[in-house]
This record gives sequence, C-alpha cells and structure tokens, in this order.
Amino acid sequence: MRLNGKVAIVTGAGSGIGEATAKLFAEEGAKVVVADIEPNLGRKVVEQISKKGGAAVQVVVDVSKADEVKGMIDKCINTFGKLDVLFNNAGIEGPEGPLWEGEEEDWNRVIDVNLKSIFLGCKYAIPHMMRTGGSIINTASELGLVGTPSHPAYSASKGGVIALTRSLALQCAPYGIRVNCICPGATETPLLKRWIGEKQKNERTREVIKEIPLGRLGKPIEIAHAALYLASDESSFTTGSILVIDGGSTAQ
Ligand SMILES: NC(=O)c1ccc[n+]([C@@H]2O[C@H](COP(=O)([O-])OP(=O)(O)OC[C@H]3O[C@@H](n4cnc5c(N)ncnc54)[C@H](O)[C@@H]3O)[C@@H](O)[C@H]2O)c1
Repeated sequence: MRLNGKVAIVTGAGSGIGEATAKLFAEEGAKVVVADIEPNLGRKVVEQISKKGGAAVQVVVDVSKADEVKGMIDKCINTFGKLDVLFNNAGIEGPEGPLWEGEEEDWNRVIDVNLKSIFLGCKYAIPHMMRTGGSIINTASELGLVGTPSHPAYSASKGGVIALTRSLALQCAPYGIRVNCICPGATETPLLKRWIGEKQKNERTREVIKEIPLGRLGKPIEIAHAALYLASDESSFTTGSILVIDGGSTAQ
C-alpha cells in the first residue's frame, strides 16, 4: 500500500475530487481526516471508508475560517498523533458573469474559500509537519493557467494557488516538506454540473467536451490518482510542481 502509516487531511472530502481522493488514500493505507463544510456529505464518506476497513474521522470545517481550520489540524494531531499529507482541495466556483457586474462579497468568498484557505491550512499544519516532513497538495485548476470568460474571480483564485504553491515550496524545502499543486480540467463532479447549469445542459456539455483533445470529461478518480502520487514517497523529489490533468486542454 502506497500510503501505509501516513496520516492525511483532505478538505472538500464530501464530494467530487475530494471524496474520490479520501477513499483512495484510505484504500492505500492512510488514516484520513475527512474535512468538509457539509456535515452529511462528510459523514457518508467516513461511513463508506470505515465499512471497507479504513480509518477515517470527520471534521466539519469552513476552510475560510481561521479558528475552524486550526480546529481541523488540532483534531488530526489529537486523533492520529501526526500529519503527513495536507490536501487543500475544497473550492467553489462562485457566480458566473462579467467582472464589472459582480458583487464584492462574492469576489471575497471565492478568494477566501479557494486561496485564503490554503494560507490558513498551511499556517496551522506546517509547524507540525516540520517535525516529520510531509507533503502539501493544493487543488488549482486549468483555469489558473488560462483565462475563462465566465468566472474571472475563480480563475484569479486558482492562478493565486499556483503562485502560492511555488513560493511555499521554496520556503518549505529546508524542512523536508514538499508543496505541489494539481490543475484538473473539466471533471465530472457536482461543481461541474453547477458550472454547466441545467439549461441547455447537453449542448453546453458537448461544447466543453469539444475543447478537450481526449474527447471526454475527466473522472474524479483520475484526479485522485495524481494526488496519490504527490502524497506518496514516489514523488520524493517533486516539489513546486504544477501537475496538469486536463485531457490536453491547455496543451492547445
Ligand atoms: N470539477 C472540475 O471540473 C474542477 C476543475 C478544476 C478544478 N476543480 C477544483 O477541484 C476542487 C474540488 O472540486 P469538485 O469539482 O470536486 O467540487 P464539489 O463541489 O464536488 O466538491 C467540493 C467540496 O468542497 C466542499 N466545500 C465547499 N466550500 C467549502 C468550505 N468553505 N469549507 C469546506 N468545504 C467546502 C463542498 O461541500 C464539497 O463537498 C475545487 O477546488 C475545484 O475548484 C474542479
């Protein structure tokens, strides 16, 4: 098993990419903190992991709130004694539309949940990881690398995640802590469903797929496998890297 003996926190673990990753990490031998703002989603994932003989504990957290993030890290240390892997994955798309018509509070929420959350997670996790070394994985997006006409705040937040990953990798290298990020492309999750919307769903899905050289949407498990590589010792010489998993979209 590739994560035997490791302890991992996965945020946004109640759904989509985070859910697939929490389950995969547990199957690979990690003890997993399933962290999500939605209590029912997190509970379901913990139950499913436990049923398969894995070790998991639930934390209900809003990753944009300092005291709650500190509580999440404390719960991990108090329950499992250490922290090896922090997967900062929770994210929201925010409203669609022209930047100049957007509301300040929507802009702040997207930046807080997608970017400030990583500052907070790292702020409270790194002092513990310094004792043992570790791996931090941040979920950015292909839209941190290229622009999007529909969700500019989202794109800005994910560009920030990429830049933060690189700087943090340099700050953490002397302590044996690796920091990497993943950039998924369009992946079949509830977030993508909301992004595409109910109206003209089939037509908009076809349009999205037309832009993907591999000719289909990604699956959460395909992103989870990238996170698994970065969490495991197989990536021991990898830090500051930006791993793009987008079916070739940004290669064009
Ligand atoms: N699905 C895609 O096409 C896609 C593409 C690129 C990047 N991403 C990124 O992948 C990550 C996961 O997205 P997903 O597609 O699995 O979405 P999802 O909506 O299926 O899952 C996100 C999870 O995060 C939780 N969450 C939301 N706000 C939170 C908060 N403040 N605190 C704690 N938990 C919170 C939600 O409850 C949900 O369970 C996000 O960062 C997203 O931006 C997704």
